[in-house]
Amino acid sequence: MLQPFRELVFATNNAHKLFEVQHLLGDSFKLLSLQDINLIEEIPEDYDTLEKNALQKAWHIYNRTNRSCFADDTGLEVEALDGRPGVYSARYGGEHRNSKDNIIKLLNELQGVNNRKARFRTVIALILDGKDFLFEGIVNGKIVDSERGVDGFGYDPVFQPDGYAITFAEMAIDQKNQISHRARAVNCLVDFLRKH
Ligand code: IMP
Repeated sequence: MLQPFRELVFATNNAHKLFEVQHLLGDSFKLLSLQDINLIEEIPEDYDTLEKNALQKAWHIYNRTNRSCFADDTGLEVEALDGRPGVYSARYGGEHRNSKDNIIKLLNELQGVNNRKARFRTVIALILDGKDFLFEGIVNGKIVDSERGVDGFGYDPVFQPDGYAITFAEMAIDQKNQISHRARAVNCLVDFLRKH
C-alpha cells in the first residue's frame, strides 16, 4: 500500500490535463508538472512508436530527476492508411504542427476511400521506483467526410467514435472525457497505482 500524498511527476505543462488526472487519482498521489519541478528543457521524442516515445520521455525525466513519473503519447491510427498518421499525428500536415493542415491532408488521403475505420490510441509509460510499466487506451471510430463541430482540438472535427452520430468536436467535453483514449489509458494507470 502506498503512503498518502506520494509525489508523481506528469510529463506535461498542460494545467488542464494535470487537473483532470489528479482528479481521477484522488489524494493518494500528488501530481507535479514539469514546471513544478523546474524541468524546462525540451523532452526528447525520437522514436517511431507511441510506446517507445512514452518510455523515452518518462525515462528522460526519471534519469534527470530520480523521481517517479509518467509520460503519455497519442496517435490517430487509420486502417486504410496502414495505421498512419499514428505516432506522427501532430506533424502530419507539416512540421508547424497545425491541426487544420493535418485534417486537410487526412481528408485528401481518404478521398474516395470507403474504409473510414480509425482509432485514437494513447500509451502511458510510468516509472515507479525505477521500474517501467505501460498502459494503453483506445477509442474506435471512423473518419467522417468533412469537418463537424467546433469543440475539442486536433482531429476532433473529423473523428466520430463508434456508437455515436456526432464527432468528438460536437460532444460536450465531459462526454468526450468519459470515452476518450486518454481517459481510458489514465483509468488503467489509476487502477494500477491504487493497487501499488
Ligand atoms: P499528444 O501525444 O497528446 O501530444 O497527441 C499527438 C497528436 O495527436 C496531437 O497533436 C493531435 O493532433 C492528436 N490528438 C491527440 N489526442 C487527440 C484528441 O483527443 N482529439 C484529437 N486529436 C488528438
